[in-house]
Amino acid sequence: MTKDVVYVNGKFVPRSEAVVSVEDRGFVFGDGVYEVVRAIRGRLFAARFHNERLERSLAGIRIELEEQDSPARFVEIGRELLRENSLLDGEATLYIQVTRGATTRAHHFPPANTPPTVYISVARFTPSRELAERGASVITHPDLRWGRCDLKTLNLLPNVLAAQAAKEQGAFEAMLIRDGVVTEGAKTNFFGVVDGTLRTHPCDSHILPGITRSVLRDLAAEIGIDVDETPIAEDEIPGISELFLTGTTTDVMPVVQLDGRFVGDGKPGELTTKLQRVLAESLASGGD
Ligand code: PDD
Repeated sequence: MTKDVVYVNGKFVPRSEAVVSVEDRGFVFGDGVYEVVRAIRGRLFAARFHNERLERSLAGIRIELEEQDSPARFVEIGRELLRENSLLDGEATLYIQVTRGATTRAHHFPPANTPPTVYISVARFTPSRELAERGASVITHPDLRWGRCDLKTLNLLPNVLAAQAAKEQGAFEAMLIRDGVVTEGAKTNFFGVVDGTLRTHPCDSHILPGITRSVLRDLAAEIGIDVDETPIAEDEIPGISELFLTGTTTDVMPVVQLDGRFVGDGKPGELTTKLQRVLAESLASGGD
């Protein structure tokens, strides 16, 4: 049997023996941040960007790491976990979570000497290749999240409810709408082609600055495709000719149905397929 080892607060332990206090602020308040990184044959894709985003999320909610800790160290621990769990072949995901630690419940920050809780784990990952070829269906859903969606925090309740609404309607993802524009998905960023122009929401406080989004934008520029960061307005939705979403665990996923209606001709679009291919090549050759 392969080992199932995780990292909690300085120790590598079997998953079944990993323990976090019931007073942990991640458990009680969702008071923490996280990252999900893709591992391909043991190599972590865009690890540096994930490090930077984790640093930004930690600073954004004012969690200070212990002196010996850093996002770069967590990625090293992730590499160790991939080895320990025999995940150096094929694909896997690395999950890193940091909370504000465990203390008696009180909304304000705990005493300064409360150590943050660090939890890191890895899991086997199998991309949905068949769906990526056929294309997925999505629903629109109101974006009910807070004003700092740019931070990757554990407060995912609106995302959870939107994802469940999608699942109950047999859809792969929910496309969130706030103030009349498409922001992003419950766990992905959205791109659409309107009047021949590739559009996505700009990186402001209403979306997570997706690593896949940013890698793809650079890859698109290299092959002469510009991305216009003007959000797609709700009334432009019927005119979308191609739609796709991006994320660490979704890559470029074509969207062929939106709220039960075909997008374009109901097949993955030409631009979408091209970008899907360049990202796949980058994933296959990339990593750190
Ligand atoms: N989700 N938007 C949201 C709200 C997300 O949660 C994610 C990632 C993305 C895509 O970002 P990236 O390309 O960096 O994965 C966009 C992760 C995978 C998750 O919560 O599991």
